Amino acid sequence: MLWEYSPSPEATDHVRIASRYNLFIGGKFVEPHSKKWFETINPATEATLAEMAEADAEDVDRAVREARRAYEKVWKKFAPSERAKYIFRIARLIQEKSRALAVVETMNGGKPIKESRDIDIPLAAAHFFYYAGWADKLEYAFPNRNVSSIGVAGQIIPWNFPLLMAAWKIAPALAAGNTVVLKPAETTPLTSMMLAEIMMEADLPPGVVNIITGAGATGAALVSHEDVDKIAFTGSTEVGKKIQRALSGTDTKLTLELGGKAPNIVFEDAPIDQAVEGIINGIYFNQGHVCCAGSRLFVQESIIEPVIRKLRERISTLRVGNPLDKNTDVGAINSRAQLEKIQELVDSGVEEGAEMFQSSCSLPAKGFWFAPTFFTGVSQSNRIAQEEIFGPVLSVLTFRTPEEAIEKANNTPYGLSAGVWTEKGSRILKMAQKLRAGVIWANTYNKFDPASPFGGYKESGFGREGGLHGLAPYVKLS
Ligand code: NAI
Ligand code: MG
Repeated sequence: MLWEYSPSPEATDHVRIASRYNLFIGGKFVEPHSKKWFETINPATEATLAEMAEADAEDVDRAVREARRAYEKVWKKFAPSERAKYIFRIARLIQEKSRALAVVETMNGGKPIKESRDIDIPLAAAHFFYYAGWADKLEYAFPNRNVSSIGVAGQIIPWNFPLLMAAWKIAPALAAGNTVVLKPAETTPLTSMMLAEIMMEADLPPGVVNIITGAGATGAALVSHEDVDKIAFTGSTEVGKKIQRALSGTDTKLTLELGGKAPNIVFEDAPIDQAVEGIINGIYFNQGHVCCAGSRLFVQESIIEPVIRKLRERISTLRVGNPLDKNTDVGAINSRAQLEKIQELVDSGVEEGAEMFQSSCSLPAKGFWFAPTFFTGVSQSNRIAQEEIFGPVLSVLTFRTPEEAIEKANNTPYGLSAGVWTEKGSRILKMAQKLRAGVIWANTYNKFDPASPFGGYKESGFGREGGLHGLAPYVKLS
């Protein structure tokens, strides 16, 4: 039975969102050369929140030139301990403003406030703290090597963790002595603009971080700018491949963090209630807008019946609705386009003969919503078992032996993450060796720490973010 809670919405009156944002270039907000702006909305209400500047190739060039100037004249020349000071300051300012940042993240992206408040914003601050600590210790990060910076980094990020992805990208770049041009996703630019304000408040020298808004064309102009030394991209495999093609034959360094179709594997000896909670956390919280979401569940045949029963009960108790409500588990889908993509894939699952179970929760009339859903009777060749859905939709499959689980789990073009649930330590180690995934969680799911590297195999991309590994793409070693 679902206990009804009274509504408990987070207040928004302490948050100031401007009606229009310009581009953050050279330490100040400047009007776009394009003279074009686009609207950014709240996906839970479809209300317009602000107008954002649309950077054209000329604006991109201006941002890259500022980043180059700041790199050569200022940032590169600073003592590493001086750079650390600014990065620590940014981390502290994120903490100070965490409440407003969480509210804006939720309003612009649709994710539940408990996610942005407890995960996104604290982890963003933690990444700046972590990399600030490395800034003056690079010779210990890469012992017996000469470490130098690369230059100007162009960074393109998606909409699922807007501020956290900005932190993942900016913090190691700055710590290693590079300057940055960052382009947030077109549907979630607002916390990046708040981050620009934080950069100003931290007195970061002008041009060290530039933040430009716009859609795919702006990103493509940044990728093809000849004075960018490194591109870091997180987003769809489709765009990642385009970027890889655009940069082939150039000496621009590249890291890509792309999609996933992560297996979550539950053995018969696993503690079932904890496993079900981990499955729920892995796919439904954050609307499944997570590249490492546990979107394929593999259950050992002997326990399929109780797992499905508990899963059905549990998703029926998930609270779907107002993302600003502190009790909400599942918020709004980030955009109409994403909602249509989820619906199309779910329709294909039904057509291909899988059996669908959907939570009967009521969905708000306005905004973009999708009820938590899972499929049983899925075969490996079904689109819902192969393609990234990026929504609150789980495909359930079964296995008999560990070997069969490994073979099925590895049978996708992706390899970002995986989960293993079992009492047996030796089995965890064996599975971890055989699963082709960059991150493997054992008896837990979706846990992050700035000291731990993250990244994928195969079509999930290359390069690592987080930890010491996350510094490597931003340094030259000799
Ligand atoms: P996308 O890959 O188009 O967008 C990600 C970023 O790339 C955005 O900032 C976008 O403006 C930029 N971009 C788009 N086209 C570009 C181009 N040609 N050159 C340079 N930058 C470009 O992702 P989208 O369309 O928002 O989502 C599509 C699918 O991608 C989702 O349904 C999901 O399956 C997957 N996705 C995966 C993410 C991940 O974390 N790995 C994040 C977001 C989406
Ligand atoms: Mg796209």
